[in-house]
Amino acid sequence: MIEINNVSKSFEDKPLFANLNLKVEKGEFVIFSGPSGCGKTTLLNMIGAIEPIDNGEILVDNLNIQKRKNQLHYFKFKLGLLFQNFALVENKTVKENLNFVRKECRSGVSIEQALEWVGLADKLNKKIYTLSGGEQQRVALSRLMIKKCDIILADEPTGSLDSKNAEVVLDIIKQFHTQGKTVIMVTHDEEIKMRGERIIHL
Ligand SMILES: Nc1ncnc2c1ncn2[C@@H]1O[C@H](COP(=O)(O)OP(=O)(O)OP(=O)(O)O)[C@@H](O)[C@H]1O
Ligand SMILES: [Mg+2]
Repeated sequence: MIEINNVSKSFEDKPLFANLNLKVEKGEFVIFSGPSGCGKTTLLNMIGAIEPIDNGEILVDNLNIQKRKNQLHYFKFKLGLLFQNFALVENKTVKENLNFVRKECRSGVSIEQALEWVGLADKLNKKIYTLSGGEQQRVALSRLMIKKCDIILADEPTGSLDSKNAEVVLDIIKQFHTQGKTVIMVTHDEEIKMRGERIIHL
């Protein structure tokens, strides 16, 4: 379970969040929505412990993830991140990108199985820059299959895709949820919002 307790966050003395409280249960599929600049990415990154908080605490399974001593375990074994721009190394192959997931962080799913699952078995040795946006996001999804994680934080993962590719990506995210993973997804898209179990307006 993710618990956000009295979290405050400002940028350059401009308050963005003041005493924010929020709980996300294990296995939930939550959507963060709201206008541009309202803090969706910041909140997601605070939950991902890649953005510091000013006050309060964020607990994941009762561990304070802002504490350095808890972060290594959190990054290695719990957290899975998905971004709008895929965050892959462009001039490396699919296989090389997937190999970056360290051995001790692997869920037991092989690279081949994960690529099969996202329908890219034939792209193993292709360089990332030769793939379409939809294919690149599927590589990023296959990486989350390979990595041990039970929380997926996705910041507009379909934001740069056409509706057909967005559908494929959403379907895979939905499968993560069906497997019991907790999913928090940011989206602007009114139609995509309806895919979640709970919409949180920021
Ligand atoms: N590193 C930073 N330094 C200063 N201000 C920042 C920083 N990061 C974010 N902000 C500000 O905080 C506010 C929230 O930004 P954030 O990126 O979280 O919004 P968002 O809801 O994700 O917007 P969008 O829908 O456009 O992606 C914005 O006003 C932004 O300018
Ligand atoms: Mg954003």
